[in-house]
Amino acid sequence: LITNSYVPNIAADLLKECVTNCIISLHLFIIFSCETITIQNETKEEILSHIRGVSALLWATHIGLDNELLDAAGPQLKMLGLMSAGYNHIDVAEIKKRGIKISNTPKVLNAAVADTAVLLALAASRRLREGRVLIESGRWNPSDWLLGQDIAGSTVGIIGLGGIGSAIARRLLAFEVKQILYTGHREKPEGKELDAKFVPLNESDSLIKESDFIFVSVPLTNETEGMCNDEFFSKMKKTAVFVNTSRGQVVDQKALVKALKGGQIFAAGLDVMTPEPLPVNDELLTLPNVVLLPHWGSATVKTREAMAKLTAENIIKGLKGEPLITPIP
Ligand code: DGY
Repeated sequence: LITNSYVPNIAADLLKECVTNCIISLHLFIIFSCETITIQNETKEEILSHIRGVSALLWATHIGLDNELLDAAGPQLKMLGLMSAGYNHIDVAEIKKRGIKISNTPKVLNAAVADTAVLLALAASRRLREGRVLIESGRWNPSDWLLGQDIAGSTVGIIGLGGIGSAIARRLLAFEVKQILYTGHREKPEGKELDAKFVPLNESDSLIKESDFIFVSVPLTNETEGMCNDEFFSKMKKTAVFVNTSRGQVVDQKALVKALKGGQIFAAGLDVMTPEPLPVNDELLTLPNVVLLPHWGSATVKTREAMAKLTAENIIKGLKGEPLITPIP
């Protein structure tokens, strides 16, 4: 079952071709066939109405895979391929308890998401949204000249120097930043390669206070949920730009709105927010100093194809009883 009709065809083609031709039980001389079902409207109701009896799920939706869906699927469900790097929307322990193998798609989206983070940093720091509104309203030269903040010569703080955080840092070096700081549970070898300075978590206040740009690139966990709160924003420089491409729930959004409205920080660029989809009357949309994108960090043709292919390959391996390429630990 493929949960989203925008999944590149490459996934369904691979699944049909490989599962039909390759899963041959030599002992029983049975050739299994494979039928893929693609959900057209990505809703829980539609998934529920098609999920019964499937052997594998290609999960390309942010809808949570809860017990109701798992029960409806039935005990023959053996493989869950997530077409995402993040897996905060599923209960890994419960799914494993049911004997279902799980994979995700790390690494293949690092470059696209890092590009999006840099795009948001530039757009927010150079006031892209306000510039566009000015042109539309027939004004060209505002009294403050729409002055922005420079990325060249800036201090950058990266929260989470994983695959995406490192890709962001690599890109920023080309923008001639002065210094890259990063924080996380441990110092990373990539940090040395990037000439980035490690700031231990218990000293991360200094990263927040010194950074001109802060990039959040951590997974959503109990530890990171609500991490960027009132206290966090109150420590940031008034001229600093906040960028989030991880998960909306890492941020206390009310605190962020307050900081943006009160001039506590300069601007924010967000690819993720709470809730998603963001209601059209949400206050975030009214603020001039926010640039918003609809959670499409990985949305390029090449990246989504690579994610779809990797997910399908994991599913085939899972059904054949072979080790997964990128299992969720
Ligand atoms: C991911 O893969 O986790 C991206 O945020 C897209 O969902």
